[in-house]
Amino acid sequence: MKRVICVLLFCVFCFSAGHTCAASEGTAQTETFWLSSLDVSRIEQSWGQARANRSVDNRPLTIAGQRFPNGIGTHANSEIPLLLDGKGVELSGGAGLDDETSGRGSVVFQIIADGREIWNSGPMRSRDAAKFFSLDIRGYKTVDLLVLDAGDGIDYDHADWVNLKVTMLDNARPKLDVGPVEDAVILTPKPAPTPRINGAKIFGVRPGSPFFFRIAATGDRPMTFSADGLPSGLRLDSQTGLITGQLEKAGEHKVTLRAENALGKTEREFRIVCGSQIGLTPAMGWNSWNCFAGSVTAEKIKAAADAMVESGLINHGWTYINIDDFWQVHRDSNDPSLQGPHRNSDGRILPNPRFPDMKGLADYVHGKGLKIGIYSAPGPWTCGGCVGSFGYELQDAQQYAEWGFDYLKYDWCSYNPAFEAYRDSKDWDPSSSPNITYAGGGDLAKAKVPFERMHQALGQQPRDIIYSLCQYGMGSVWEWGAEVGGNSWRTTQDINDSWSSMSGIGFSQAGLEKYAGPGHFNDPDMLVVGKVGWGPQLRNTRLSPNEQYTHISLWCLLASPLLIGCDMTQLDEFTLNLLTNDEVLEVNQDPLGRQAARITQNGMLEVWAKDMEDGSKAVGLFNRGQREQTVTVNWSDLGIHGEQTVRDLWRQKDMGQYTEKFEANVGRHGVVLVKIAPFK
Ligand code: GLA
Repeated sequence: MKRVICVLLFCVFCFSAGHTCAASEGTAQTETFWLSSLDVSRIEQSWGQARANRSVDNRPLTIAGQRFPNGIGTHANSEIPLLLDGKGVELSGGAGLDDETSGRGSVVFQIIADGREIWNSGPMRSRDAAKFFSLDIRGYKTVDLLVLDAGDGIDYDHADWVNLKVTMLDNARPKLDVGPVEDAVILTPKPAPTPRINGAKIFGVRPGSPFFFRIAATGDRPMTFSADGLPSGLRLDSQTGLITGQLEKAGEHKVTLRAENALGKTEREFRIVCGSQIGLTPAMGWNSWNCFAGSVTAEKIKAAADAMVESGLINHGWTYINIDDFWQVHRDSNDPSLQGPHRNSDGRILPNPRFPDMKGLADYVHGKGLKIGIYSAPGPWTCGGCVGSFGYELQDAQQYAEWGFDYLKYDWCSYNPAFEAYRDSKDWDPSSSPNITYAGGGDLAKAKVPFERMHQALGQQPRDIIYSLCQYGMGSVWEWGAEVGGNSWRTTQDINDSWSSMSGIGFSQAGLEKYAGPGHFNDPDMLVVGKVGWGPQLRNTRLSPNEQYTHISLWCLLASPLLIGCDMTQLDEFTLNLLTNDEVLEVNQDPLGRQAARITQNGMLEVWAKDMEDGSKAVGLFNRGQREQTVTVNWSDLGIHGEQTVRDLWRQKDMGQYTEKFEANVGRHGVVLVKIAPFK
């Protein structure tokens, strides 16, 4: 950095090419820094990455036709957290939306000093001229520059801070306050040795389908199970807690489940709803993609099933072991374990050599009291380039049912509505199909077609198969996913184990709550805690401990399917704890099936809440910011009043009675998750 020290009063030399200029103010020596000279790669934002002197899409910074050679190109929601230690004098610059969005996007720029707003741009739209500020920041320890989405989501919010400079005293330099390394603190006490029944309290089954439900319970073993009111056709294995059989007629049954061990006994109500709707609570399980991706094998699937039992996860309601892509033969891989005939002469799909016995694998998983899931695509090829279901939907559904699968993830990828014209043509040859991805959005009726087709095919099978749609939210799938039989539908592109990905996806679910309900849920993608890596190399998640608490809390509040994405054979204590807090999981599995709504947003602080069947509210107090802050939930925001009991769900601890509001200190990127219920 170039630097000139002045000896005259109020003299200033600035370098346009360099980062700083120096001056003196009164007797004190000051120096001015371009904030673009900080390590902007550490700035957190909900999309893309912040860039020095370039826009988020890596173009020259341009606001309303004006070019700015210096500044930071960022994206809502973002925070530039400055640590000034009381040595700042002045902060100046401008802000606006970059022209690269061609008229789209809107944001609010906000500057907070020691927790107090000192500048606010008001809502700004693309093509508005930059707004400039010059702020006295003397004495402040911290100054945060925020870009917020102006209440309409983050799409196209390419936001530029330009000519951004800070003047500092006494040789001090501005620093980014990106937080220390956090300890992985386990907040939850170990499950009690006395019996506790966990997992879903309501279960849907179709008449005539095989019934398969294992009572999940923690507590010392041996444990015995019994039930009152089990309808005829069903039987309970008192040693394993597995309920099997079948129901002939539609109807609802109230059952009392009991679990007993040497230390005590417990009971819980369980509702069986026999009818057309399955998947009444979000699916809980594991999926191979976020750890193994294209390196999945049958052995790894078996090992995952073993680990789900041995780790005790099964006792908390975790049920599905889902194979993602790469169980089929690959289009053109050189790897012999992905080669072979695609289908037999009857059109039945053939697994690749890594999966020599699909029926045996399904039996193995069922033998552990778990269920098993499979993956396909409505196009000729899956996302990874393996054989998809196009043209063979009914045979595939039959095959999955015959093998004994309980869950299907159906992933758009190579599908193109234009293929439909060839569907019945004799010339149809999947191996020569164009591999074009439909742009989505435009023709809603066409976007539904392939999902409805598989829905029909699954509906004809004599077993219940949870149907998980995956097409990344195209055509507002939440508006019609349930109509085409989806028990869940992905609302976004793929998640990864970074704060910007996880929080960007999670917090952007605001507004989708009206589309979720028992049997049909929004799916913001799978969990990225533990050892992940999209195989074959695995690493610890890059999410900090607080971020992981935020991830699980938010996904539970959102009533999202919970699919563990890590290698369960390598679970550490912290990850296991995150996945086995029954009070937190109850928020996800609540029979009302509600998805939390964002009820307040104040800068980087957000409160999300959902109604629970017992009349309480599950409430997440989130801090998306870079440093600890107090988050408040007011009863008026929740539509409640009077004395309420507040329970901290991660710590499983009552916090006492509160009458108007509850406040908590929440760490960087962290959460306090509570249950608020009228005091009795
Ligand atoms: C898509 C999906 C992922 C995964 C891969 C498999 O990217 O969104 O979840 O299933 O395909 O190829």
